[in-house]
Amino acid sequence: MEIKRVQTLAFNQLKELPPQFIRSENERPENTKALEGVNVPIISLSQPHNLLVKNITEAASKWGFFVIIDHDISPKLIQSLQGVGNEFFSLPQKEKEAYANDPSSGKFEGYGTKMTKNLEEKVEWLDYYFHLMSPSSKVNYEMWPKSPHSYREVVQEYNKEILRVTSNILELLSEGLELENKTLKSSLGGEEIELEMKINMYPPCPQPELALGVEAHTDMSALTLLVSNDVPGLQVWKEDNWVAVNYLQNALFVHIGDQLEVLSNGRYKSVLHRSLVNKERKRMSWAVFVTPPHEVVVGPLPQLVNDQNPPKFSTKTYAEYRYGKFNKIPQ
Ligand code: OGA
Ligand code: NI
Repeated sequence: MEIKRVQTLAFNQLKELPPQFIRSENERPENTKALEGVNVPIISLSQPHNLLVKNITEAASKWGFFVIIDHDISPKLIQSLQGVGNEFFSLPQKEKEAYANDPSSGKFEGYGTKMTKNLEEKVEWLDYYFHLMSPSSKVNYEMWPKSPHSYREVVQEYNKEILRVTSNILELLSEGLELENKTLKSSLGGEEIELEMKINMYPPCPQPELALGVEAHTDMSALTLLVSNDVPGLQVWKEDNWVAVNYLQNALFVHIGDQLEVLSNGRYKSVLHRSLVNKERKRMSWAVFVTPPHEVVVGPLPQLVNDQNPPKFSTKTYAEYRYGKFNKIPQ
C-alpha cells in the first residue's frame, strides 16, 4: 500500500490543510494557547552535587520535564547528528521509501508517517525515522539509513554520549528518592537498558493553527532526551496549561516517561506534551527513548511502597505495558 507522506503533501504547496489533519476545536493550537511568561526548569549538570540532586528531583516531581545544559556532549557532535538526519530527509522520496516501516505488521523500525492510531481518526503533521540504537548486541544496523554514509558513525558516537548522560540522570534521580544511586538504572535492565532513536520531521504546514505535529501524549519510555533544530514547537502540560519550551542551542530536553512514574510510584511525573508546527519552516527533533528491555518487569519500587503509600500502579513487563499503550487500554 502506498502511504502518503506529509513531506510530499507539504511539497505540493497546499493552501488548505486536508481534513484528516484538522484537529477538533478543543485540541487546536489556536484554541489552546500556551501560557505566557512561564519558563520550564533549566538544569546545569555542573552545579554542586547536592543542589543538582535537589533541583533535578524537584523538576522531575513538579514538571516531569527539564532542560539539561553543561552535559559535555560536544556541540559539534550535536551538529553532526542534525546534519545526518537532515540529509536523510532530503533524499529523493524513492530512496527514503526503501526504508518504509509497517507498524501494523510489527515492523516498527524504519521510515514512517504515523505511530499510533487516534480515536478521532486524526493524523499528525510529521514523518519520522525510528530505530533501535542500543545495546549494540540487539541492534540491526540494516534498519539504519545507509545514506548519508556517515549516519552510522555519527549516531553511534551520539549513542555513547547519551548513555553516559542517561546513567548520570538516573543516578541523580535515584538519589532524589533516597535510594542507592544504581537503583533506577538496574530496575530498567542495567547494562541491557535500551535506547531508541526517533527523528521527527515536521514539514512547513499551511495552517499550523489547526494542526498538531505530535498530539498530546506521555512517553511510554523511562526517560526521553531530545534535541531539536532552532524552530520551537514543543509544549509541556503544567497545572492545567500548556507551557512553550523555548529553543536553547545544544540543550537536551528531558521528559520523564511512564516507566519512571511507575518505578517512583508517582513521585516523578510522566509529562504530558505535544508539538506544534510552523508555517514557513520545517521543524526537526531527535528524540532518544530510554526503555527497559521488553521482558523486564516494572512496578512501583518496594522501597517506596508501604501502608501509607500503597502502590499506585500495576506491575507488568514492559512488553505488556507497551501493548496496552499502543492499543489504548487503561493500564
Ligand atoms: C515524541 C515527541 C516532541 C518534539 O517524539 O515523542 O514528543 O518536540 N516529540 O518533537
Ligand atoms: Ni513524546
